[in-house]
Amino acid sequence: MPCSALRFLALTSGALLALRHVAAAPEPSPKVFGLDFTKQVPRNTPESYRLRKRQNTVSVDISNEQIAYIINMTVGTPPQSFSVQLDTGSSDLWILSDISDACQQSPDVCQQLGGFDDTKSSTFVEIGSEDAFQIQYEDNSQVTGDYFNDTLAIGETTINNMTMGLALQSPDRAFGIMGIGYDSDESIAEQSPNDIYPNVVAQLVNQGYINTLAYSLWLNDLNSNTGSILFGGVDTAKFHGDLVVLPIQPSSNASYTDFTVALSSVSFIDATGKTALSQNNLALPVILDSGTTITYVPDSTLDPIMSGIGAINSDELGGYVVPCSLSCSSATLNFGFGGNGGPSIAVSFAELVSPIYLDDGSQPTLKNGETICSFGMASGGTGPFLFGDTFLRSAYVVYDLTNNQIGIAQTNYNATSSNIVEITGSSIPGASSTASGAAVTQTYMGHPQETLPATKKAGSQATGSFPSPTFSLGSCATSASKNSGGSTGKSSAVGVVPPRIDAMTAVTGLVCLVSMVFGGSLVFMM
Ligand SMILES: *[C@@H]1O[C@H](CO)[C@@H](O)[C@H](O)[C@H]1NC(C)=O
Ligand SMILES: *[C@@H]1O[C@H](CO)[C@@H](O)[C@H](O)[C@H]1NC(C)=O
Ligand SMILES: *[C@@H]1O[C@H](CO)[C@@H](O)[C@H](O)[C@H]1NC(C)=O
Ligand SMILES: *[C@@H]1O[C@H](CO)[C@@H](O)[C@H](O)[C@H]1NC(C)=O
Ligand SMILES: *[C@@H]1O[C@H](CO)[C@@H](O)[C@H](O)[C@H]1NC(C)=O
Repeated sequence: MPCSALRFLALTSGALLALRHVAAAPEPSPKVFGLDFTKQVPRNTPESYRLRKRQNTVSVDISNEQIAYIINMTVGTPPQSFSVQLDTGSSDLWILSDISDACQQSPDVCQQLGGFDDTKSSTFVEIGSEDAFQIQYEDNSQVTGDYFNDTLAIGETTINNMTMGLALQSPDRAFGIMGIGYDSDESIAEQSPNDIYPNVVAQLVNQGYINTLAYSLWLNDLNSNTGSILFGGVDTAKFHGDLVVLPIQPSSNASYTDFTVALSSVSFIDATGKTALSQNNLALPVILDSGTTITYVPDSTLDPIMSGIGAINSDELGGYVVPCSLSCSSATLNFGFGGNGGPSIAVSFAELVSPIYLDDGSQPTLKNGETICSFGMASGGTGPFLFGDTFLRSAYVVYDLTNNQIGIAQTNYNATSSNIVEITGSSIPGASSTASGAAVTQTYMGHPQETLPATKKAGSQATGSFPSPTFSLGSCATSASKNSGGSTGKSSAVGVVPPRIDAMTAVTGLVCLVSMVFGGSLVFMM
């Protein structure tokens, strides 16, 4: 990757953006608490987030526009403030130490997003041996430090004796992560299963704040600034149609470690309403992972879609790219789960097509002025197939870790009303039915092996333009595709704030830009 050296800087400068006050939203019903989070849009970096905890080691390179879902919290007595990324694909909560490499390099970022000074907390207790905390994510980032217990407050909720990681080495991440998966997926589980500790969700139950190990995630629209997480309950005003329950699929040894569900169909409905592609009777284990930016599918699904929409795979831009004007296509990709009668989630192009920002803050364009956007899907090779934010934004998802089930429905974007119901027993309130027609086993314990895309062919690129889509996609107003940078058309997901540039990244950015040539044939305007 020509720009990999920029990763840290890129993350840190992006990290200054888009953080807003996070309001605790306690609701009348008992034992439920909601929290708004803000979306953070860091600048384009060589890697998109793939926060699912890794099981062993293989590396993949992939870059993309990335959005992190951020919540605020405090740690210690007196409280010190932190902004952390919410992640369903891992299970540890960690924050940066103020003496970590990351904080030494970017003190201003730590000041804003949090760098923990343990000497100033009277409730701090170090636990375990030094450097016992180690976690590596699917995107190859690695974090090392110590475990500690301290008081954690999220909104109005205070958890005593919360076990967390205190990162001392975090070369790639400028702020911490709150993993809210199964305890059994904690990073300590592999070496030392007896040391598995109650993570945040478990502590909310243990300390009496919620009744069930469950929460609902409403990521909301790509273009809106906030979404929310509701611990212990379901907000029935945040989705359309039926909420359908899917069994979470255990791994091959019958344990539950991640949110694997059975994908049973994929279809592409074009702009005229016609089914341009239909794959039924799939039985594919896919993992719902909010810490992953895009959606990874098998080549047999990806290839026909990418050629149908005329996408090009670009190493330099980190994956599949399309004209930004496609974001207003009315075509949808529909994903069906759980077999016959199971739920189907329609994902619109507005959610899949997102802007890319170069290090100078501009957007890449073709010679003819057409703005280039990323398309939020990639090859998952032989697995795992991570369904990240480009899918999850279209769904309202209830994660019930007590009963090993997922409730899923089409999201209600920008819903302003609220109807919160507590999850108490073994059923998810508001759920209309259960899909159990398909069972799959998550046997894959490794990492995505990306394969070279079929669409990366010389012919289409030599012309310096995108290949013509074979699916009927409709078109946007003509003005929409001519922008670079601050766009005014509705084509390019303009609600996303372009990143701010600081002097250091701008300088390094130049080095990166020079080497950015698309597979040798599509050339950027600079
Ligand atoms: C959340 O964090 C941001 C960034 O540090 C800060 O500006 C904001 O005031 C915080 N909100 C709360 C409620 O602490
Ligand atoms: C740390 O927290 C865990 C989980 O609440 C608790 O079991 C353990 O006793 C605590 N350790 C110390 C030293 O306080
Ligand atoms: C944390 O757990 C330890 C061991 O169980 C206990 O002695 C201590 O009082 C707890 N601290 C708080 C703040 O609850
Ligand atoms: C939701 O709100 C955002 C920001 O206000 C807006 O850009 C977007 O178009 C809205 N989405 C829908 C589906 O109405
Ligand atoms: C089952 O797999 C999980 C995940 O790898 C592992 O943590 C656990 O120890 C395994 N259990 C058995 C009994 O092999």
